[in-house]
Amino acid sequence: MSKTIAILTGGGDCPGLNAVIRGVVRAATLQRGWRVLGIEDGFDGLVGEPRLRELDLEAVRGILPRGGTILGTSNRGNPFAYPVRQGEEVRLVDMSEQVIEGFRRTGAEVLIAVGGDGTLKIGQRLNELGLPVVGVPKTIDNDLRGTDVTFGYHTAVATVTEALDKLHSTAESHHRAMVVEVMGRDAGWIALEAGIAGSADVILLPEIPFQMEKVVEALVRRRERGSRFSIIVVAEGAFPAAGGRVVQVGAEENYGIERLGGVGRFVANEIEKRMAVETRTVVLGHVQRGGSPSHTDRLLGSRFGVKAVDLIEQGQFGQMVALRGRAIIAVSIEEAVGSLNLVDPDGELAHTAEALGIMLGR
Ligand code: F6P
Repeated sequence: MSKTIAILTGGGDCPGLNAVIRGVVRAATLQRGWRVLGIEDGFDGLVGEPRLRELDLEAVRGILPRGGTILGTSNRGNPFAYPVRQGEEVRLVDMSEQVIEGFRRTGAEVLIAVGGDGTLKIGQRLNELGLPVVGVPKTIDNDLRGTDVTFGYHTAVATVTEALDKLHSTAESHHRAMVVEVMGRDAGWIALEAGIAGSADVILLPEIPFQMEKVVEALVRRRERGSRFSIIVVAEGAFPAAGGRVVQVGAEENYGIERLGGVGRFVANEIEKRMAVETRTVVLGHVQRGGSPSHTDRLLGSRFGVKAVDLIEQGQFGQMVALRGRAIIAVSIEEAVGSLNLVDPDGELAHTAEALGIMLGR
């Protein structure tokens, strides 16, 4: 039976979103003859008059290698706490009814919500309120449970690894300590995996509060062994055991979410203070979210897109597509967003790093 389905991308963008959109459109139109509508800018596109785009084969032609999302995204538009300006003040208002009404006006029967923890939680709540939702997990941080990995992560790790390779030669030439701040609010996957792959000397993660004296000891030991430069990778959410996270903009001024950043500079200052070594800080920032998706992320995004359409056909709403081992499966969104997928400080990966001589700040 013919159907109309809608798709939106929410939260921070990442490489591979276009592969999902293309996968959905091709599986829905080529195999089933369904109609696909794209909602622009995440849930924002359902507030007021729906902002829609017809997604036919022509609309998704050539987008597989493109970074970002052709639909646009937003990490502000939570329908359950929607920022509304009233004079000088921004108030958070429950707009979920308007969003459900906006969705009804699109004429679509089901919504595919592609996003991270925030977007999927919203999708889950809307599903409970009667709007059928299928979830697709995305985030470069790889902090979502329920799936072995999210798309976007592989490309981000490749970007950071390449940056670390490049920073090695300049750090070595100038005999400097190079502190590289990478993304990872709660989970240090990018820092740990790229740090190992890019041969870092120190890796600091949100999961292991760090002791500055241990970091300095490791750098001194390295110098004593004859290495006159060091590479220190710091996840933006890492924090000293004796203090808190370094926040750039507080949650109250940033729609309820802290904007992190600055821990790299903090670590660099401490190193310069505690030992005579010239230090530089590099913040890789949103470079990690950009660029063409790796083959792994194109493949995973495509498989997720196709599976999301299968789930709609089977009426499996409130479910999220996921990778488990080599298989693409369905898991309940509720289960997936219940807690975060964090690095195990006592797990194999942390052990491997330490066995390789990498200091994890403890
Ligand atoms: O996608 C998650 C993330 O990359 C976090 O690691 C980071 O804190 C956040 O996005 C930054 O998002 P933005 O600057 O787009 O608000």
